[in-house]
Amino acid sequence: MCGIVGMCGNSDAVPVLISGLKRLEYRGYDSAGIAVSLPDGLESRRSVGRLSNLEKRLSTKPLAAAVGIGHTRWATHGEASERNSHPHFDQENRIALVHNGIIENYQELKAPLLEQGITFQSETDTEVLVQHLAACTQDGTEFLSALCAALQDARGAYALGILNQAEPGRLYAARLGSPLIVGRGPDGVYIASDVPAILPQVDEVIYLEDGQIARLSENEVELFDLQGNPVSPEWKQVELEENAVDSAGFETFMLKEIHEQTRVLQGLLDRYVSGEQVLLPDLNLNDEALRSIDRMMIVSCGTAFYAGMYGRLLIEKFTDLPVETDLASEFRYRDPKLSANTLVLAVSQSGETADTLASIKMAKEQGCPILSICNVEGSSLVRESQHLLYTHAGPEIGVASTKAFTAQLMAFALLALHIAKLRGDMPADRSHRMICELRGIPLCIHRVLEQREHIQSIAEKHHDGPSSLYLGRRFNYPIALEGALKNKEISYQHAEGYAAGEMKHGPIALINEALPVICICTDTEDEVAEKMISNLREVQARNGRIIAIATEGDTRLDGLAGDIIFVPRSLERFSPMVNVVALQLLAYYAAHARGTDIDKPRNLAKSVTVE
Ligand code: M6R
Repeated sequence: MCGIVGMCGNSDAVPVLISGLKRLEYRGYDSAGIAVSLPDGLESRRSVGRLSNLEKRLSTKPLAAAVGIGHTRWATHGEASERNSHPHFDQENRIALVHNGIIENYQELKAPLLEQGITFQSETDTEVLVQHLAACTQDGTEFLSALCAALQDARGAYALGILNQAEPGRLYAARLGSPLIVGRGPDGVYIASDVPAILPQVDEVIYLEDGQIARLSENEVELFDLQGNPVSPEWKQVELEENAVDSAGFETFMLKEIHEQTRVLQGLLDRYVSGEQVLLPDLNLNDEALRSIDRMMIVSCGTAFYAGMYGRLLIEKFTDLPVETDLASEFRYRDPKLSANTLVLAVSQSGETADTLASIKMAKEQGCPILSICNVEGSSLVRESQHLLYTHAGPEIGVASTKAFTAQLMAFALLALHIAKLRGDMPADRSHRMICELRGIPLCIHRVLEQREHIQSIAEKHHDGPSSLYLGRRFNYPIALEGALKNKEISYQHAEGYAAGEMKHGPIALINEALPVICICTDTEDEVAEKMISNLREVQARNGRIIAIATEGDTRLDGLAGDIIFVPRSLERFSPMVNVVALQLLAYYAAHARGTDIDKPRNLAKSVTVE
């Protein structure tokens, strides 16, 4: 969604703002802008579309200043247009403001401003906030106090960067519900939506807390609460390395991230498995606490929801705990009858997804313990959770999630084994066998990656149809859903994921010689394999184009599937981590053949920070 960057330094901020905005492009945006503090006032440049348009604007009308703010906007209130793009100004151009989030009561704040004769240039909630802030300064109130007052009036979520013409050497920032960090380095101090945006510039960062305001000048960062009381800053050393956020010679970040999966999963095993023990240091759940839990509720969105579906199956398989899953956007409006014995587990790459956050806040209010599987340290979700399991996948820049997903699956596998052991639900020898099987998964993924040319040739054969159907059963049902989602997101080809057993209840009507049907048939334990093969026969009988994911050496699909991607043998319960890699590559090369913008698919945002 929207991205924010700002600098207050000893050299020209404009190149830093542009480079920071480029590093935030992955979040998704449809317009961009910057504003700077000049000796004679505030000035801005804005443009619709890609950042290259803003750069062109700056090359014909340059700006240079040591203090500035920048923004990439993903339209919510009002179309993607120059007048709706940020920064927004008050009527007298005294204050410039960039905003990520939503001011829910903007209509309420706008009414008195309209009565005072203020005219608005845009349709945005953000402009209402900056005009309201200007109104709070009208009676000569000092800027920080006016900002506190304006923010106390605002309802909703915000990360803000603000310039005040009267204080040309300063930059203000504030956070409530949307991520924002403050950084410092040799050339100045900065704000940004995430660390990678300002990684080359900073050595240390502060993760702003909800309800905090930061006042930055070249050599100083002061923090305040919303009442204007000083707060001590907690600086943290930046541990991310620059090569974690470049594409390392791959044509896209997504392809790089697909290839990183072997290393990421191996890293999780190295980190969390010692000998034959699973050790989860941030979980903070002892045997007693775990035994008091009588139900688990997994909430998440999109790809993370499919990881949750997989997690449910595995935890149910390994333990005696009843587990439910729900989409966070549905869960938060249900009446799910929670209690202090319900462990609510949130799954999120970013840790900033609005619906997921709202769900766990609701569960917390009802006394539930919260466990989060999350990739981003310091994220809002992490701060709301007492129990944590980090996926350590590194920054995921491609909008379509890949390595974060397989890391979530591995995290669930380790969590399920850990819970089973602590609750006494799994004998040690079985647990050892499971760990041994898990250790084989990174190599299986590597072997799928080696087949990328074969998978590309299959994708190129089938990419041009209007639709495709993905079928799987049990552990691979969520993978069918994820495969279809990947295809939709990046190739813009309609795709439907289905539980194979449901095919006869509707989707079978779609099958004809033009419809690619991607079938996951890797059950080596033969519990659902026969049923899957029957489904394939039904597709074949209607001339569907079958693309099968099958286990090496399995001859049962000969003559049934037109194209087969063979993957190494693994236990059915762990095979999703391997199979999904084949589906990621299939979607990737379909998108490649269709010529889409793979890392930044249209209309999508990397982290959905608004409802
Ligand atoms: O950051 P989160 O994991 O909470 O994000 C959830 C979804 O928005 C995300 O998985 C989305 O579906 C991706 N575009 C999938 O590729």
